[in-house]
Amino acid sequence: MTSASLLELSGVTRRFGGLRAVSNLDLSVERGEVIGLIGPNGAGKTTLVNVITGVHRASAGTVRFNGEDITRLPPYQVARRGIARTFQIVQPFPEMTVLENVAAAAMFAGAAGYGREANAQALEHLEFVGLAKSANARAASLTLAMRKRLELAKGLAMRPKALLLDEVNAGLNATEVDHALSLIRSIAAQGITVLIIEHLMKVVLTLCTRIVVLHHGELIATGDPASIVKDQRVVQAYLGRRYAADNATPGAPHG
Ligand SMILES: Nc1ncnc2c1ncn2[C@@H]1O[C@H](COP(=O)(O)OP(=O)(O)OP(=O)(O)O)[C@@H](O)[C@H]1O
Ligand SMILES: [Mg+2]
Repeated sequence: MTSASLLELSGVTRRFGGLRAVSNLDLSVERGEVIGLIGPNGAGKTTLVNVITGVHRASAGTVRFNGEDITRLPPYQVARRGIARTFQIVQPFPEMTVLENVAAAAMFAGAAGYGREANAQALEHLEFVGLAKSANARAASLTLAMRKRLELAKGLAMRPKALLLDEVNAGLNATEVDHALSLIRSIAAQGITVLIIEHLMKVVLTLCTRIVVLHHGELIATGDPASIVKDQRVVQAYLGRRYAADNATPGAPHG
């Protein structure tokens, strides 16, 4: 059976002991969408990405991607189907060079050959994110903003159909956020479907074609940016104070 949607979640639940971090979630993502996944701390956003990418097994429900049931696939198999993700806590291999980190990501996803071919492709991705000059530096020596860009390059090196970004802008200053914004825009323009977890409403509102709101593991609203900022449940659960604060100081860390 083929499905029209690129990514289809049906009844997805993830329990940690007695806690339902993600609860009976239904969501369809179409090809080419740029989805903003928002909600308070602990809402289940990262857990959802972990379930989609096979890092955590779903306690119930199914995840379909490109018409195939991927619910029980391990992470490297999910990557090979075309889903790449970045990590909220950036975790490069610290002793490897920047270039080696990107080449390793490509090999993990089966998206590159080995040796020279992998390195040449990795360098292209580093050029795209503006890190080519640091290709031979140890990953551990990068600043936070550079490590976030490295995460993007690693994701792109997997040649994904869908890229899941978990707070790639957290901790960045306004200039760095603007740079990341234009990178994500050009990624989307390449036809890659993007799902972005983001606390900065400026980013979500300017970038996303649709917003999905999680609260206590449940999907409480989905819609275009204009309707989401007016949705009373969303304002109460999340946006109220934060939206006002973000408008005053874009780039302020969440918490
Ligand atoms: N490995 C785990 N073991 C136990 N509980 C977990 C685990 N991972 C997440 N949780 C819990 O699941 C809930 C959802 O967490 P999650 O990290 O998905 O939230 P989030 O929406 O990404 O929050 P934030 O905006 O702070 O990143 C939280 O209550 C969290 O404590
Ligand atoms: Mg998170």
